[in-house]
Amino acid sequence: MTPDEKKQQVARAALEYVVPGTIIGIGTGSTANYFVDALAHIKNKIEGTVASSNATAERLKSYGIPVFELNSVDEISVYIDGADESNRYLHLIKGGGGALTREKIVAAVSNRFVCIADDSKLVDVLGKFPLPVEVIPMARSYVARQLVKLGGKPVWREGVTTDNGNVILDVHHLEIAEPVKLESEINQIVGVVTNGLFAKRPADILLLGSDTGVKVLD
Ligand code: 5RP
Repeated sequence: MTPDEKKQQVARAALEYVVPGTIIGIGTGSTANYFVDALAHIKNKIEGTVASSNATAERLKSYGIPVFELNSVDEISVYIDGADESNRYLHLIKGGGGALTREKIVAAVSNRFVCIADDSKLVDVLGKFPLPVEVIPMARSYVARQLVKLGGKPVWREGVTTDNGNVILDVHHLEIAEPVKLESEINQIVGVVTNGLFAKRPADILLLGSDTGVKVLD
């Protein structure tokens, strides 16, 4: 199977985790897009969605699926989103699509986080995928210098502005042995909005598309 076929396989499998009659959080990226395509078939079974990006909101609306502002919602039953990397503890690197901050907010509000990915995303140690950090534009150079002190090599994702009006630094050359600690350390740098480590709030379930079917890790 190609990576895209695995993503489609796992996106369809995630429909089992949709709680009927509730509001569902929806992530960003190609795997999340496949999930939206699958969700369209059962759209009448849910109350609506909260999207983690403008792009996802547009895709949901194109199918006639209701999209709510997070501030008008009390509860999200489940959040379904992809990842750039996951370890066996379901600590994730996310933000390849630049939506990490809204993804982290929607994940925080959700009762359950179901992560969907193709099996190439499972790694022993996080960090081969450059860690995205969302930064207030005027703090870009300062934050980059602080990230170098933490052992990383930050690269400005030039030309990209997040849905929140900020910039992204992708931090290379990190071998992330302690994801919870590093997530906090980076978030304490003044000017950082958040970083793409999802370790303090990891996924609850990881569904991996593979040649031999969907694998479930929890
Ligand atoms: C977007 C993300 C995505 O979940 C991540 O980049 C994975 O993307 P894809 O499903 O296209 O492989 O965090 O900000």
